[in-house]
Order: sequence, then structure tokens, then C-alpha cells
Amino acid sequence: MSPSYQRTKIRPMSITQTTSLLPVPSGPLVISPLPPTANGLQKSPLGFSLVIPTYQESQNIPELIRQLSLLLDSILPDDYELIVVDDNSPDRTWEVAQSLILEYPKLRVMRRQQERGLSTAVIRGWQVARGEVLGVIDADLQHPPETLLKLWSEIQRGADLAVASRHVEGGGVSEWSLLRRFLSRGAQTLGLVILPEVVGRVSDPMSGFFLVRREAIAGKVMNPLGYKILIEVLGRGNISWIKEVGYVFQERLEGKSKVTWRQYIDYILHLLRLRFALWPVARFLRFSLVGFSGVFVDMAFLYLLSDPSALGWGLTRSKIIAAEMAIINNFLWNDLWTFGDISSHQRGWRKRLKRLLKFNLICLVGLILNVLLLNLLFNFLGFAHLPYGRYIANLIAIAAVTIWNFWINLKLSWRVTEVND
Ligand code: GDD
Ligand code: MN
Repeated sequence: MSPSYQRTKIRPMSITQTTSLLPVPSGPLVISPLPPTANGLQKSPLGFSLVIPTYQESQNIPELIRQLSLLLDSILPDDYELIVVDDNSPDRTWEVAQSLILEYPKLRVMRRQQERGLSTAVIRGWQVARGEVLGVIDADLQHPPETLLKLWSEIQRGADLAVASRHVEGGGVSEWSLLRRFLSRGAQTLGLVILPEVVGRVSDPMSGFFLVRREAIAGKVMNPLGYKILIEVLGRGNISWIKEVGYVFQERLEGKSKVTWRQYIDYILHLLRLRFALWPVARFLRFSLVGFSGVFVDMAFLYLLSDPSALGWGLTRSKIIAAEMAIINNFLWNDLWTFGDISSHQRGWRKRLKRLLKFNLICLVGLILNVLLLNLLFNFLGFAHLPYGRYIANLIAIAAVTIWNFWINLKLSWRVTEVND
């Protein structure tokens, strides 16, 4: 049964005030903790600001604004705003949106002419927003506006983030091609490998339809890339309570999707950038220092075993033994220092032995990568002709494998699983 909507009274405002474009923020992508103030006065915050990023949406925007206004007038009369952020669309979407303002006074319009891109458009919109709850929805009606009601009620129940998901009960996509489904799921799987603790928190990390409490992301410097603003919010925000609401991703009415291969490349770069931004730096430095001590153990044994002036054994055999000695050295220091805060909860020789075996296995895989990389550099990429070529190649191989060893050990060997009381 469609909810009853009463039309909101349109308060007369000066034409210039209503239809003028919003100022375009510049500088860092940070949302202020308090609603923006005007002429020094603290404006009372609104309940809700919904940002609509647009590019070439002039045919869709009037119907979307009509539906959103009807819905939000019914649940949040006089307590919401709609903010269209258009990137200078050739079809002048910003102008079409402006022409709607007189009829829908809760609508505000921003036209960006320098910066471009979906996720920065959303953040710039949130930067001028006055709402205590911030939201984003696509302009092409592929996100059913009525899903907003469910998202809003989840926020009212206390969620920090309410996400419209295609992959929970009641969710789905309309006629997506197999390729599109494969690409979307593939992108999600890649995200789970690179950023499991972020992408793994929701069933539809690709969603561009969600609401978030301003306080959960206020003051955080965002640095998104491409299309996936939700990953940035999950990665940088203070999000503890997440609720998902199922929705069916609709067919576009007018216009076409702007997704190109560029968005997929941006997505991978975004994941990697966020990965390093969220990298446990202090722990990684400790791990690297331990690894550095292992380099001396590795080098010392490599010299003793393979150098012509010492035992003169074959390079690979010497390398394997040298690396194993370094692995044991590293495990002891890592278990004691780098991951001491975790291993101290997992006492007992059996558990320590289990960690040593996992560490060893991961490092052995790392050793294989190391030997392959060493040989690739030394025998195929010309390091053999450099002075001390074998040692420079060895150092590069060790550095690359250190990142591998750290990440997989963090996830597997010293995972915070069973913690003794
Ligand atoms: N301002 C601005 N700048 N808006 C943009 C840009 C841009 O560069 N590119 C796209 N948009 C707007 C579109 O106008 C539309 O409102 C919305 O962003 C989504 O763009 P589409 O081109 O329709 O993307 P899609 O249909 O393939 O949707 C996919 O991406 C969306 C955004 O992340 C799906 O993954 C959706 O779930 C997701 O919401
Ligand atoms: Mn779309």
C-alpha cells in the first residue's frame, strides 16, 4: 500500500537564494564534525542529507527528485535536504536540477567544473551537507527510492551505517549480463583478498546506496578513487554497527552506465591505497626489524656455505639452509616481540609449535618466492653482471617476501582467535 504523502508547503524564498548553485568545496576531503555554519551562526543541523552524484542524468533527475521528495516529505518533513552534485555534465544536468528547486525547495545543486569522479562528488556533497545522517543514492533510479525508508529506520534503530545490498534477503540484480555479474563478484573477491577486514564487513561492498552517521566519518581524511565510496567509508570511518537492507538493482530508465574499465583499475588501486593506509605500521616495522636481523643470519650462512672462500656449496642449497636458519631466528623474535601481545594470550608449547609450523610453512612459501626471485634477478635480469649482484638481488628478494610473510602471518599464524581468559 503506497504511504500517504502530504505536499509540503513551499515557503517563498528569494529566487536567487533558492536556485543559486552551492559553493564547491576544495582542499582535503574531510567532513566537518558539525554542520557547516553560515555567517558565524551555528545552523541547527538537519536530520538527513542525501547526496545524488550525477553525470549525464538530465532525463532521470526530475523523476528521482519527485519520488525522493514525496518519500522524505512523508517521514522527515522539513528535516532533510537533497544535494545533487553534478560534474559539469554535457547534458547540463545541473541546470535541469536547478530548475526543479522552486518546486522542491529541499533540493540544493552543486556544479563541479574542476574535480571529477563519483566518490569525490559524494564527499564534496557531504562537506556542504547539514544533516546529522548522510546518504548517497544513484541518480538513475537503479536504486529504488522506497528502500530509503528501510535504511532510515535502521539508522533510527542505532546503526552507524545502513547499506542497501543486492546480496542479502530481498536483494538481487535485474537483467545483468553474466559478464557484469562475474566482474562484480570478481571485484568483491579481490577486495576480500586485499582488504578482508574492510570488504568482508558487508555483503555488497560495491553498493553506492547507503546512509551513514556523520559522527562516524567526521574528521576522517578520505582519499577515495573511482566509484566505490562505501569501501572508503568502511576503511576510514568509525563504524561499529552495520545493518544491511536487501534491494533489487533496477534496470536503468534513461542514459547509460558510466562504468568503464577505468573504474575497475581505479578500484584495484583504491584497494591497494587503502591497504597501505590501514597497514599496521608499528607492527610491520617490528616485523621488518626482526626480518632485518634474519638478513644477517641469512647472509652469514649464505657466505659460510656458498662463498668460494668458505665451504663453496651450491647457491640454491646454501640459500635454503641459510633461509631456514633465518626463519627460526625470526620466529623466535616475532613470537616474543612483534606479535607478543597476541602470542601471550595463546600460551603453551603446543600452540607455540603450531605457530612455528604455520610461520615456517608461510616462510617456506616465501623462501620459494625468494629463491625464484633471486634466480630471476640474478640469472635472467642481469644482476649477475653487477658488482655484488648476488647480494643486491638477494636483498630485493628478501624485501618483497617480507611483505608477503608479514601479511599472511598476521592473518594466519598470529590471528587473534582463541584467547585464554
Ligand atoms: N558527479 C559524478 N561524477 N557522478 C557520477 C560520475 C562522475 O564522474 N560517474 C557516475 N556518476 C553517477 C551517475 O550519474 C549515477 O548517478 C551514479 O553515479 C552511478 O553511476 P552509473 O554509471 O549508473 O553506475 P552503475 O549503474 O554501473 O552502478 C554501479 O556503480 C554505482 C556507484 O558505485 C553499481 O555498482 C551501483 O551499485 C553503484 O551504486
Ligand atoms: Mn546506474
